[in-house]
Amino acid sequence: MKIMICGKGGCGKSTITVLLAKAFQKKGYRVLVVDADESNLGIGRLLGTPVSGSLLGHLGGKKALQGKMMEAFPKGKPLELFTEKWKIEDIPADCLTDAGGIQLMPVGKIEAFGEGCACPMGVLSKMFLENLEAQDEDIVLIDSEAGVEHFGRGVEAGCDIIVGIVDPTYESVLLSQKMQAMAVKAERRIYFVLNKLNEQVEGALAGHMPEVEIIAKLPQKPDIFTATLEGQALDVRLPEIDELCEALLAR
Ligand SMILES: Nc1ncnc2c1ncn2[C@@H]1O[C@H](COP(=O)(O)OP(=O)(O)OP(=O)(O)O)[C@@H](O)[C@H]1O
Ligand SMILES: [Mg+2]
Repeated sequence: MKIMICGKGGCGKSTITVLLAKAFQKKGYRVLVVDADESNLGIGRLLGTPVSGSLLGHLGGKKALQGKMMEAFPKGKPLELFTEKWKIEDIPADCLTDAGGIQLMPVGKIEAFGEGCACPMGVLSKMFLENLEAQDEDIVLIDSEAGVEHFGRGVEAGCDIIVGIVDPTYESVLLSQKMQAMAVKAERRIYFVLNKLNEQVEGALAGHMPEVEIIAKLPQKPDIFTATLEGQALDVRLPEIDELCEALLAR
């Protein structure tokens, strides 16, 4: 199953991706985390490992990919990056970092001042995910960049389920409505997770979201916040995350 995690900046996408990755691994699944955030660098740290390599690097870097895109798109030709379907075991080793058995694959990062937009990374994320065949024992978690630009790029096309993370802000509520509408257009299933909850905000936040399906509610946990502030690996086990795994598997 390929599950894309998305939502507003800072709502907890990377945190929840890592907690889910560890929980699915404990259940015996083979887990691949796809880091589709072209800016943030923190997910390797959350998984407890320095990261090396990326899919973009494997393909020769951004300039090389842009060259292939310019060769194909203006002439209406298909961009041929993958000659055959990939399973997780087909992903080249130089794209992957092993984090205690969880495989992490960054799509590619913005590296230099003035290097231009991140569209090639969006194209690559979309094509990689459409080309990747997840087996029954596989869970692929895609940690996306903040906002809804990936919907504009059609990255969702290669995913089975979208999980929208909502923190207790009105901006996040508004974005959830937009994500819901875009997912319907993209014909993807979308479910929502409320994050950083305490008793005071839980009812109010859920009350703002009557028209979407909420499948989990996660508490505000000081030990999560402190671990990320200190640059430590996330080693927190939450019953709500185990329940979220079950809820996703049941859908
Ligand atoms: N349930 C939680 N309890 C406490 N703190 C949390 C929780 N979830 C996330 N955080 C904190 O919120 C901050 C943002 O989390 P995270 O980096 O996962 O968000 P993100 O959505 O991936 O952000 P970005 O859009 O920048 O990629 C971090 O400091 C993290 O520790
Ligand atoms: Mg993040």
